Amino acid sequence: MRVMILVALLWCSALAALAHDDADHDDDAETIDVSGVSVPEHVSYHEHVRPIVEANCVACHADGQIAGYAPFTLAEDVVWAAPDIKFHVVNGLMPPWPPSRENLPLKYDRSLSDQEIAIIAAWVDDGAPLGDPHDYVPSATDGFTLVDVRADLVLQIDEPYTPAEDVLDDYRCFAIPLDIDAPQYITGFDYIVDVAEMAHHNIVYLFDERATRAIQRRNYADGRPGWSCYGGPGLSAEAEWIGGWGPGAMPVIVPEGTGFIIRPGQHIVIEMHYNLRTSREPDQSRVILQLEPAERQLAELTLVPLVAPVEIPCPDSVEGPQCERETAIERAKELFGQDRRYKPDYLLRECGQNLTDYAANTGENARGYCDYPLTDSFTIFSVGAHMHELGRSFRLELNPGEEDSTLLLDIPDWDFHWQDHYFFVEPLQVARGVVLRMTCVWDNSLSDEPRYVVWGEGTSDEMCFGSVLALEP
Ligand code: HEC
Repeated sequence: MRVMILVALLWCSALAALAHDDADHDDDAETIDVSGVSVPEHVSYHEHVRPIVEANCVACHADGQIAGYAPFTLAEDVVWAAPDIKFHVVNGLMPPWPPSRENLPLKYDRSLSDQEIAIIAAWVDDGAPLGDPHDYVPSATDGFTLVDVRADLVLQIDEPYTPAEDVLDDYRCFAIPLDIDAPQYITGFDYIVDVAEMAHHNIVYLFDERATRAIQRRNYADGRPGWSCYGGPGLSAEAEWIGGWGPGAMPVIVPEGTGFIIRPGQHIVIEMHYNLRTSREPDQSRVILQLEPAERQLAELTLVPLVAPVEIPCPDSVEGPQCERETAIERAKELFGQDRRYKPDYLLRECGQNLTDYAANTGENARGYCDYPLTDSFTIFSVGAHMHELGRSFRLELNPGEEDSTLLLDIPDWDFHWQDHYFFVEPLQVARGVVLRMTCVWDNSLSDEPRYVVWGEGTSDEMCFGSVLALEP
């Protein structure tokens, strides 16, 4: 159905690959230096701080939103939290925005300017004065608001599913028939995750009629909704991957004039990864779709997955059989039956690499990367990244090391809780022949029980996974 438009080719120059070194990453958030920025002599809440908070914080910090437990909608709330606000803002922790300032400009950028940070810091240092409400003028700059996805079709797991008792990571696939009379385009996605504490991520696939029999055979085969699906839905039918969610992911509206086509008779399969370390409750998550009629003749989108090898040795201080690569491979096989595509040696081969390419990996600084020479020229709208809890940094770049190299996504301090999909301010035209490189860096000393880690489905395993939303070439 879909032609893979990116093909992993042999990367023959190991030297060039090693020249790109990610050795330096810091443990602690760095204080943003705003000492050179000038601020008004008297900073007040109403005149200066309120417009910043309203434009940049209340989309999340309001009743019913994800940070509703700490609302900033009233003056007294903001004054009360002032020292905490300064701490989070000057350390770059809030608003949450993992991409660095070197990144290509991104839409929905939530970060504050140096000027805004300096104003908040000065206000808190002055004792957080309220000032005169008449001085309030709403912010003139675009702040951060959530996009509003129209709920034209709501897809919900048909009855609550309680994850399996005997596993720490349950992967469950739920098929939902598309209840539509005519072809339509999906132009927006919103993911309503029912039990946030156990939702690790989800992936949304589109299957055509040919998968219907296989779906019927598997669904409820063990008496419970859906079926177990480590490593993908496994319906021996080709699927189109059209969306997904990770912690911190925001609702998505695709670029104007584009969409994913869906047809009557097709199924959406939602693959849920439940991590059961802290909770195991019935879940009935939903995906909300915004639709447009097929007559609109939109340009068709494709979501392209990128993968790279995961070869993470033990830290120097840890020894034992758990530090052997073979042990790690056996473990992944036993626990997850490991899909062929994610087997460590297969990943190396697909990226044209050998284990020797990872000889420099240490427990504290292990890198995985893959080069994708583009076999077509095309338009890219957005990119996403997924790693687990050992992740340190993530980069997606075009023509790395060259003069014309471009940073599509630069996340210097990986945070598992903020995994968004990032849209470029301007869609990117990329020429055939350009090399797209994805690089993940991990730190195994972040683990409570370090062992050699390879690609695996569990939360304590790792992935180096990227996604690119592009126009069908
Ligand atoms: C995209 C949503 C989002 C935006 C925008 C956002 N926050 Fe937050 N904030 C959160 C979430 C979620 C938490 C709680 C979990 C965490 O710390 O990540 C939080 C926690 C905080 C806390 C700690 C509260 C406590 O006492 O535990 C502070 C302070 C804070 N945010 C300040 C701000 C400020 C100031 C802004 C705007 C300049 C802002 N945030 C913008 C989502 C957001």
